[in-house]
Amino acid sequence: MISIHVNASKEYDVILKAGVLSEAGALIREDLSRRRGTAGILRSRRVCVVTDETVGDLYGGQQQTLISSLREAGFDVSRFVFPGGEGHKNMQTIEDLLDHLTRNRFSRSDLLVALGGGIVGDVTGFAAAIYLRGIDFVQIPTTLLAAVDSSVGGKTGVNLPAGKNLAGAFWQPNLVLFDPAVMTTLSQDLLLDGMAEILKAGFIADSTAIYAALMVPQDTDETGDPTGNENGTSSSLYNFLRMGQAGPRPPIFDHPEEMMRLIAKAIDIKRVIVEEDERESGSRKLLNLGHTVGHAIEKCSDYSISHGAAVAMGTAIIAKAGQAQGWVKEGYGDDICAILQYFGYDLHCPYPAFALADVAYNDKKIQGNQITLVIPEYPGHSTLKDVPALELEQIIQQGL
Ligand SMILES: NC(=O)c1ccc[n+]([C@@H]2O[C@H](COP(=O)([O-])OP(=O)(O)OC[C@H]3O[C@@H](n4cnc5c(N)ncnc54)[C@H](O)[C@@H]3O)[C@@H](O)[C@H]2O)c1
Repeated sequence: MISIHVNASKEYDVILKAGVLSEAGALIREDLSRRRGTAGILRSRRVCVVTDETVGDLYGGQQQTLISSLREAGFDVSRFVFPGGEGHKNMQTIEDLLDHLTRNRFSRSDLLVALGGGIVGDVTGFAAAIYLRGIDFVQIPTTLLAAVDSSVGGKTGVNLPAGKNLAGAFWQPNLVLFDPAVMTTLSQDLLLDGMAEILKAGFIADSTAIYAALMVPQDTDETGDPTGNENGTSSSLYNFLRMGQAGPRPPIFDHPEEMMRLIAKAIDIKRVIVEEDERESGSRKLLNLGHTVGHAIEKCSDYSISHGAAVAMGTAIIAKAGQAQGWVKEGYGDDICAILQYFGYDLHCPYPAFALADVAYNDKKIQGNQITLVIPEYPGHSTLKDVPALELEQIIQQGL
C-alpha cells in the first residue's frame, strides 16, 4: 500500500492499494468519523455512487465489490449512471445529478463517490461543490489519467458550448482510493492517455521518473533480443531515444510494481504543486504543460482525439517551438519528442496553426493580451512564459 497525504485547503489521503475497492466502505467511514466525530458519522447515511455506463457495468454493479463494501459499512447506497464521454460532461448532466440527489433527499452530511475516469470525477466533484453549497465526495479513479492527475488537486468542472472546463469549482475530495486492478480492463490507448500526464509530471519536475519508466527492460526472446521489436535493439535509454519506438507495447505497462511507483511519483509531483498554489495563481499553471495547444487539438477534433493523446501532441509542439525560440535547451525538445514517440504517441497534428491559435484565443487561460505558456526548459524543469497572444499562431507554427 502507498499512502500520500495532501495538505491542501482540505487535507486528504490518496491510497493506492490492490483490493482497496473491497475496503472502500470501511475506509470512507473511518475517514468521516475522523473528520466529524461519532455523532457526525451517524448523520451520514446516504452515498450516491456516480459513474458512467462502462465503468458502472465493470465495477459499479449492485452486486459488485464497491457497492457491497459501502452497504456493509452501513451506507444507504444509490447510483447515478450517465453515458459518459465529453459530450455528457455538461450542465445537463449536473442538473440531472442534482435532481437525483434532491429526489433521494441527500443532505449536506451525505456523500458522493466518483467511480470512473476524469469525466466522472470532474462531474461528481462539481456537483459536490454546488449541491447545498457543498457536500463531501470521494474519488475512486478507474483510468490511469484519473489516478495520476484529475482525482487529485480539487479541480472540478464541466464543458460549456464555448469550450472545455469553462464552468467549475475548486473542491477537494475527502479521500482518493485507487485499486491498480482497474487497469487490467483499460485499453492501451487509455493507458497511454494516463501515461501522457505521467510524462508531463516528469517533464515539469522530475526527469528521473521518466527515465525509470523507459529503463524497464523489455521481455526478450530466445536470441536475447527484445520481443516485438524488429530492430532487436538493447533496452538502454540511449537506444530507446535513438530508436524512437518501443515496439507494440511500452514494457512498463506489464510491470505492475514499477507502474505503481511511477503513479505514486506523478501524484506526489502534483501534490507538491497543489500544496504550493491550490488555486492556480502561479506555479500550478506548470501542470498545464502541453494543455493550451492540447485543448485546442481536442476541440478541433470535436473530441475524437483523446485528452492524453492531445496533451502529448501539444507537449511536442511546445517543446519544438520552444527549442526554435531558444527557450528550451538545445536538443532537449527533440528528446521530448523521442520519449513521446517511444511510448507510441502519434505526434502528427492534423490541424493548422491558425485553427489551433483561434481556439486557444477563446480559452479561459488567456488574460488580457498575454498567454502563459509552459516551457520544458531542461530535463526535470519547466517554467512559465508570458507571450503576446497574437504571437501564438507563429509559435505553434514553429512546433508543427
Ligand atoms: N480535474 C482535473 O484536474 C483534470 C485533469 C486532467 C484531466 N481532466 C479531465 O479528465 C477527462 C479525461 O479523463 P479520462 O481520460 O479518464 O476519460 P473518461 O473519464 O472519459 O474515461 C475514458 C473512457 O474509459 C472508460 N473507462 C474508465 N475506467 C475504465 C476501466 N477501468 N476499464 C475500462 N474502461 C474504463 C470510460 O467509460 C470512458 O469511456 C477530461 O474531461 C479532462 O478534461 C481533469
